[in-house]
Amino acid sequence: MNNSMSPLLESVVLLVRRAGAELLRYFRAPVSQLGVAHKGPRDLVTRADNASETVLIDGLRAMFPEDTIVAEESGRLSNENERDAGANPDAATWYIDPLDGTTNFVHFHPVHSISVARYINGIGSLAVVLAPALDECFGAERGRGCFWNGRRVRVAAEVEMRDALLATGFSYARSELGSGGLDCFRVVLERCRDLRRCGSAVLDLAYTAAGIYGGFWEYHLKPHDVAAGALLVAEAGGRVTDVAGGTDFLFGGSIVVGAPFVHSELLEILRRGPGHPGAPR
Ligand code: IPD
Repeated sequence: MNNSMSPLLESVVLLVRRAGAELLRYFRAPVSQLGVAHKGPRDLVTRADNASETVLIDGLRAMFPEDTIVAEESGRLSNENERDAGANPDAATWYIDPLDGTTNFVHFHPVHSISVARYINGIGSLAVVLAPALDECFGAERGRGCFWNGRRVRVAAEVEMRDALLATGFSYARSELGSGGLDCFRVVLERCRDLRRCGSAVLDLAYTAAGIYGGFWEYHLKPHDVAAGALLVAEAGGRVTDVAGGTDFLFGGSIVVGAPFVHSELLEILRRGPGHPGAPR
C-alpha cells in the first residue's frame, strides 16, 4: 500500500486548509464579530460557518463540476449536468460540514473541525477532516488507507473496552435523554477506561481512526457529520455500523465505530439499551 497521500487527496487537503484559514480568522475574535444566529434553541450558526462553506463549495465546484454537493448550511446543490440536462444518477456527492463543533467555536474552545467527503453511489471514496486550531489533518481514500498529518494510521490495535478511551456526543434536541441514552452512557462509562464528550463528532470519528479513541457512538447525526469520519475509520481498519449493527450510518441517524473488539462490546451495550432508539423492539 502506498505510504503517501495521492495528488487528488492532497488537492482536497489544500482546499480544506483554505477553509480552515477562514475559520481561524474568526476564532476567538470578539463574539460580536461572529454574527451568531440560532437554527434551533441550541443549534448555532456563525459567519465563520458561512465563510468556510463558501470556500469549500467554490473550490469543489471548480475541481469537480459534475459532482453534487450537500452542505450543512446551503443544503443540496445540483451539479452541472443536473442544471443543464436533468438528474445524473451516477454523480458523485460531496457531504460538507464547514464547521463541526460550532458551539465550541462560539465558546472559544479549540475542538472544532471541517469535514468533506465524496461518496459515489453511496460508498465513501475520499475524505478530509481538518481541526484548524489544533493543526490536525486527516485524509483517506477508499482502498488507500488513512493519514493523520501525512502519516499512515490505524485504529487502536486489539484494545478491549476496559483499556480504551471512548467518546460520544449528544444531539441538540437532547432526544437521547428520555429514551435510555443516559443509561447506555452510564454502562459504557463503568466498563471503559474513560469517556470523552468533546463536541465535534467529526473529530471524534477522526480520533477513533487515529487510535486515540477506541470507539465512538452517537445518535441523531446527519450525513455531513459522519460521511468523512466513517471513511477515515474504515480505511484505518476499524468497524463502522449503525446502532443496529447494519450499514445505514449515513442516513439512519446513528453511528457506532471502533477498533474491532471495542466495537463489538459497544454495539452489544447499545442494542440492549432500555427503550433506546437503537434497541430491538
Ligand atoms: C455537533 C457536534 C457535536 C454533536 C452534535 C452535532 P455542529 O455539530 O458534532 O459533537 O454532539 O450532535 O450537531 O452542530 O456543532 O456542527
